Amino acid sequence: MREDIAQVLVTGEQIKQRVKELGEAISRDYEGKDLLVVGILKGAIIFLADLVREITIPITLDFMAVSSYGSGTSSSGVVRILKDLEVPVEDKHVLIVEDIVDTGLTLKYLLDNLRARQPLSLKCCTILDKPERRLVDVQIDYRGFCIPDYFVVGYGLDYNQKYRHLPDICVLKPEVYRRS
Ligand code: XMP
Ligand code: MG
Repeated sequence: MREDIAQVLVTGEQIKQRVKELGEAISRDYEGKDLLVVGILKGAIIFLADLVREITIPITLDFMAVSSYGSGTSSSGVVRILKDLEVPVEDKHVLIVEDIVDTGLTLKYLLDNLRARQPLSLKCCTILDKPERRLVDVQIDYRGFCIPDYFVVGYGLDYNQKYRHLPDICVLKPEVYRRS
């Protein structure tokens, strides 16, 4: 594992501090409101698990799974819902929790799709933002870190479903991509 990593971009300690700040901001902004937190599978699970434990107001949790990428590292631009919400959202404030906003295509699709279901409000929180790669304009309401244009793994993010459990956000060595 460790031998596959070229560089640590964000350490687990830095993430912990930032997630705490995001949780505090969300708790403050949604005080007294009915908040539904929507985690986007699978990439956001580790972030979501840490984030909700820093939120001090009552919330409910649900999940969506979408596929935007194949198994590689480039966007196909096609978004498909693999798993939908189990609850209606009309009477709720909805916060989407994402792992990373890259081209923005996935988030735009999710925002358009959920907005059509007429929630009371709709916002988004992502641990990572790669603004250099943006193809569509999307508003990010809560952002962990802006990172340069590297394909990253760890803290929920994968390459071919591997490396999700790494506590840091890392860049892999080029030969790792070449050998698969
Ligand atoms: P878009 O391009 O639609 O991408 O904004 C969003 C989804 O693409 C995946 N993604 C990555 N996954 N390392 C990953 O492991 C990356 O550097 C990366 N960039 C994009 C991710 O699933 C995200 O939800
Ligand atoms: Mg992925």
